[in-house]
Amino acid sequence: MTLSVRINPRILEMQYAVRGPIPLRAAEMARAGRKIIPCNIGNPQALGQRPISYYRQVLSMLENPALKDQPGVAKNFPEDVIERASGMLESSGIGTGAYSESAGFRFVREDVARFIDARDEAEARGIPASDPDAIFLTDGASGGAVAVLEALICDEKDGVLIPVPQYPLYSATMARLGGRLVPYYPDEDGGWSLNRDIMEEALEEARTDGVRVRAIVVINPGNPTGALLDLESMREVIEVAGKWGLSIIADEVYQENTYGGEWHSFSSVLGTRDIPLFSLHSVSKGFYGECGHRGGYLEVRNPPKVEGEDLDMLDILLKQASVNLCPNTMGQMMVDLMVRGPEPGSGSESLFLEEKKKILGDLEMKASMIRSAFDEMEGVRCFGRTGAMYLFPRLEKLPRGCNDFDYCMELLEETGLVTVNGAGFGQAPGTHHLRIAFLPPVEAIKEMLPRWIDFHHRLLRG
Ligand SMILES: Cc1ncc(COP(=O)(O)O)c(C=O)c1O
Repeated sequence: MTLSVRINPRILEMQYAVRGPIPLRAAEMARAGRKIIPCNIGNPQALGQRPISYYRQVLSMLENPALKDQPGVAKNFPEDVIERASGMLESSGIGTGAYSESAGFRFVREDVARFIDARDEAEARGIPASDPDAIFLTDGASGGAVAVLEALICDEKDGVLIPVPQYPLYSATMARLGGRLVPYYPDEDGGWSLNRDIMEEALEEARTDGVRVRAIVVINPGNPTGALLDLESMREVIEVAGKWGLSIIADEVYQENTYGGEWHSFSSVLGTRDIPLFSLHSVSKGFYGECGHRGGYLEVRNPPKVEGEDLDMLDILLKQASVNLCPNTMGQMMVDLMVRGPEPGSGSESLFLEEKKKILGDLEMKASMIRSAFDEMEGVRCFGRTGAMYLFPRLEKLPRGCNDFDYCMELLEETGLVTVNGAGFGQAPGTHHLRIAFLPPVEAIKEMLPRWIDFHHRLLRG
């Protein structure tokens, strides 16, 4: 007889809708030969996005430095690729096959700090310089988010303000850690903006329940909302965090996916204010789309002290990183390439810029095509300035007894389009949404949209 074991109930409780029943049904349909358009997950290269040539050339040289000595190989790689890979290997001191420092290669953390300062125009704007010792390289941004939450949640009375809807990493991690997810609801009709009343109402409710709120998570641009946060909303977050002694966890993995709208980093808006900030970035998104390489970083500003100990949060994060030995080395190398592309004027630059422009241009075009289709669908409204890789329209009219899960399932069965229903991310009570990732090729989206519009109206007419 097969052994039964007791499983941690917190793990049983965790949910991750992005890979839930709808994609499972889609996989079943695909196996039966149905054509599927997978718009359920932000995984660009799984949907046909080609890797940026420069990144892969450098990465392959890093993994196999002997390539450059093989006859005929060097002429296929621009000179600057070979130089870059040699420089990175030399700076690493150990190559890619050994454990690195637990916080990640020092030279990569220095490049990350320079990137942040240049991005924020730190010197000109009087923003404190980024510190390589307060940067941790991680296996994707997920690793950084989990490490911070793990350190902050001591028991079920510790809570974190999390936007609803949210990226399910946060709800799943809170469930696993046994802390309290304290939901706050950005103003959808106001473009998913924030104001202090929204956050303070959530805080007040948590305090009445005896919950100690430790931090606020902000995802900008948003997932699943795809919305870009405005400056005023960011200032309100900082005010509330300052007033209530909260740390800010700024998930900024989509910072490159802004399609013309202005994006501000939390570090730049925070400036010299002494509020703990943990910001996350990743090689998975942007135009790089290197999800499988699992690279990311966590930058800490104003690390809080540890109550009752002569330690601060950097010591704790370093201890956690040390237990895991180190983040994977190729992910770290990919972070270096993300924060430092080819040198201006180098042999790789023009192709790199061309590929980047094409990827971001296509994303913008696809988002705008889908938004226009919503205008043709009765009772479908989509708010906010487009960012990230998602649209999250509100389904204001559904047939009686039909919820957003039923809608997405029917949509899949009828058109092959895979989306995620709003409930998978949480949503304001009584509302229905779906999230569509605009990653499949332009042609696939163009072909699918009229069928979706047709499905929508047939469903409404019953
Ligand atoms: C908002 C957000 N944060 C973090 C992640 C995780 O990214 P990574 O692949 O870097 O772990 C994702 C992935 O989709 C995301 O959407």
